[in-house]
Amino acid sequence: EQREKDDKGETEMEKFFIEGPSRLEGEVVISGAKNAAVAIIPAVLLAEEPCVLENIPNINDVNISLQILQELGAKIKMRNKTTVEIDATHIIAPSVPFDIARNMRASYYFLGALLGRYSKGAVTMPGGCNFGGVRPIDQHIKGFEALGADVSIDHGMICAEAQQLTGSHIYFDGVTVGATINVMLAAVRAQGLTILENVAKEPHVVDLANFLNSMGADVRGAGTDVIKIRGVEHMHGATYSIIPDQIEAGTFMVAAAATNGDVLVKNVIPKHLESITAKLVAAGATVEEFDDAVRVTRSGPLKKINLKTLPHPGFPTDLQPQMAVMLSVAEGTSIITEGVWDNRYKYVDELRRMGAKIQVDGKVAVVEGVESLTGAPVKATDLRAGAALIIAGLIACGQTEVEEIHHIERGYECVVEKFRGLGARMEKMEVPDADVQR
Ligand code: EPU
Repeated sequence: EQREKDDKGETEMEKFFIEGPSRLEGEVVISGAKNAAVAIIPAVLLAEEPCVLENIPNINDVNISLQILQELGAKIKMRNKTTVEIDATHIIAPSVPFDIARNMRASYYFLGALLGRYSKGAVTMPGGCNFGGVRPIDQHIKGFEALGADVSIDHGMICAEAQQLTGSHIYFDGVTVGATINVMLAAVRAQGLTILENVAKEPHVVDLANFLNSMGADVRGAGTDVIKIRGVEHMHGATYSIIPDQIEAGTFMVAAAATNGDVLVKNVIPKHLESITAKLVAAGATVEEFDDAVRVTRSGPLKKINLKTLPHPGFPTDLQPQMAVMLSVAEGTSIITEGVWDNRYKYVDELRRMGAKIQVDGKVAVVEGVESLTGAPVKATDLRAGAALIIAGLIACGQTEVEEIHHIERGYECVVEKFRGLGARMEKMEVPDADVQR
């Protein structure tokens, strides 16, 4: 049907329509962590036995990772909506030449995992980046080379091959989640000891280490600055439950505070949310912690705060756009400093269309609080920017239409249902694409 429409020059696009302002109230259940899942799914390649992964989020990035595994020859069976059984005993070839891999940056984790299992691998180079800045992979390559691999880029593929992967001492130039994970995946089956220094300490790095250990790897120190990996010859199958998504939880926490709401955010690890809780409290919200839930409320006014994003345990960059939205209606002027990415303020132009007063100079955004935002048609420029625009739509007066929602659906499960469950007036609709030239 879509093809018929396209032939006639008509196309449809999906958008979110949000009617604001709304006050979010109720309970929301957080899904498994995207950034843990996209590392743990390729990691099953390291065992020649089936694995069972629980608490898998139903999002596009996870579907792409599973599809890549399937194309490689693994057998995938969904036991239920959140549990998948993966048997990667038989793999056709250690190469991911598929176009689907281009659509997801994290597909490069297949290279680390294939290198670990076969001492060689090749993956389609990931496509362009959404933030507008460069997303280098030099530290991944440096790590693979230190383990004895030759790395080359050939016909849009990144290829790595070693006679025998050998443990090494690697000091990363900067803290990087991606390189920490990728080199860890390769090193677990290398010969001898690998010491990784200046590593990322994000909860998903620890989650991957725990999964690898449950498969028989010997990884110590994840969550600190130094990870020590003693290579093992064989790894076995395991059943593992992925941690809750810190960023999805943070997004709902910020949304609750921004809308003057009262939300119980369930299925979380409150320890992972401490940097977020601290900033929300400073901005005037109340956060109550339970064993596996947090309740965010606000009754007083929102206050200005200063915020700098940093690697974990600092404030996560993936919540920076959402916080900017909240602060755009706080009393006073807030200063945000982006400490991880060179350019993560592309979304600010969209917020300005809604009446926000934000000036950006390099890594710093000066957010002058305004009385209120007004609904407008806006574009999600990337995943977290998209989440921020939803929050903007919730606090704004009138209708907000968010375009390019595929970015959002890459990383947020049932986002419409979850916000609606909290009282948001939000819908996903297909509308004719006005940008198409007839
Ligand atoms: N960097 C290098 N060289 C490298 C790798 C990274 O210089 O080889 C630099 C980057 O340019 C950046 C910094 O190191 O300035 C941090 O990058 P990192 O490698 O930590 O980021 P990533 O692994 O590519 C992951 C998340 C991102 C999140 C960042 C930072 C996944 C799949 N992605 O990206 O999440 O912003 O860590 O926490 O885990 C998102 O979920 O929306 C998202 C973009």
